[in-house]
Amino acid sequence: MSQAEIGVIGLAVMGQNLVLNMADHGFKVAVYNRSYDKTDAFVRQRVEDRPIVGAQSLTELVDQLARPRKIMLMVKAGDVVDRLIDDLIPLLSEGDIIIDGGNSLYTDSTRRTQRLKAEGLHFIGTGVSGGEEGARTGPSIMPGGDVAAWPAVKPIFQAISAKSDGQPCCDWVGPEGAGHYVKMVHNGIEYGDMQLIAEAYHLMRQGLGLSVDAIQAVFADWNQGVLDSYLIEITAELLTFKDDDGEPLVDKILDAAGQKGTGKWTGISSLELGVPVTLITESVYARCLSALKSEREEAAQRYPASEVPPLSESETRAMIAALHDALYASKIMSYAQGYMLMREAASEFDWDLNYGGIALMWRGGCIIRSRFLENIKQAYDQNPSLNNLLQAEFFEQAVKQSESNWRKAVAFAVTQGLPVPAMSSALAFFDGYRSARLPANLLQAQRDYFGAHTYERIDAPRGERFHTDWIHSGGHAQSGSYEV
Ligand code: 6PG
Repeated sequence: MSQAEIGVIGLAVMGQNLVLNMADHGFKVAVYNRSYDKTDAFVRQRVEDRPIVGAQSLTELVDQLARPRKIMLMVKAGDVVDRLIDDLIPLLSEGDIIIDGGNSLYTDSTRRTQRLKAEGLHFIGTGVSGGEEGARTGPSIMPGGDVAAWPAVKPIFQAISAKSDGQPCCDWVGPEGAGHYVKMVHNGIEYGDMQLIAEAYHLMRQGLGLSVDAIQAVFADWNQGVLDSYLIEITAELLTFKDDDGEPLVDKILDAAGQKGTGKWTGISSLELGVPVTLITESVYARCLSALKSEREEAAQRYPASEVPPLSESETRAMIAALHDALYASKIMSYAQGYMLMREAASEFDWDLNYGGIALMWRGGCIIRSRFLENIKQAYDQNPSLNNLLQAEFFEQAVKQSESNWRKAVAFAVTQGLPVPAMSSALAFFDGYRSARLPANLLQAQRDYFGAHTYERIDAPRGERFHTDWIHSGGHAQSGSYEV
């Protein structure tokens, strides 16, 4: 019997679907799950005439694989991955490859790459996006780690991935934890996109008093234009669902959001690297705030909303158009921030990231897939060394066209007392980014006043430090160059 081309460990839904996808593309797959019952049931029910074989032990799995052995872990991120690596190392031979397809923290993937290298083995940490359906029909795959392993894995990954204009939504991302880093930013952007859609929904529902059906029609319409994306599409679809009593199901869902950590990691990384990824981070906080359900209910009694006169029909129509533009412009800020973060990470960790390639990987298969990513890809195709998305002509025009409606929508939310943390933080970021002068001069003066932290002057070369004795100089500037 021929040997399997790849082994997959972990037969939860994502693992199962990925295995079926591989088998449908003609790859022979050996599978192993901690409990053999699950492996047995999967092989009995799903395999039919597909080239899939079950293994009862890790040793059996390893024996079933052609060399170099490729073993993909589809298990929960964290200690389980390290324990499996511990168990596999003694069973493997030089040049064999372990792939982690979970949502692992990128620093773990960097550590694992180095660890396996020291053992003469290769590690790939890969983002896999697209949920259960994507895994089955074509996910977006973002591999990074030991590039020596890529030629052996590439044919399988590129065959099973989604395609955009015939190109696979999978390419080599970079060394160490680069693949999981890019997946983390993908998920952060996913948080931002979801929050923006939720804010637009909330303004239409609470601020404009629209019915769920009317909002459903708005999202369906938006999905025909520049906002065309998977997340807008599923939002329009899920709003059609009714509960047993005929009421919209969405109204029956408790408004306390969960999270598994990738958005938080994006925020933490942005703080560590000093990149203003405000929209994603606000989206994480918005979930945290939503989780304070009982406290919010109590505060709602204490601080009731003030009455605001309803908008006329034409004003309502204009506000829906404003919301569209606010969502679009905010989304541009979010992606600009996400790309700023990846650029800084690439510089910090010495990774050569291909930004256009990342847009292509996100163009299809993944949760943030959208028409918009085609525009990002084109911007990087036109200028591969583009410093910031906001410097690209296409996005400059889009922001300028949306700007006044964006302000109108945020102002509406503020007067209504409705929270739009993502839209408003995006606008604050934009206003800061386009300001040649910010009040940081005053911050520097304060820091120098109480802590002699020194400051730079606008009329001296950058890097030259000054200090003023603010307390004893009696209001007269007695600043002097500061010797570091
Ligand atoms: C994807 C998703 C996937 C998962 C998120 C959900 O790309 O397919 O992002 O990875 O659904 O981890 O994250 P939260 O539970 O934190 O919302």
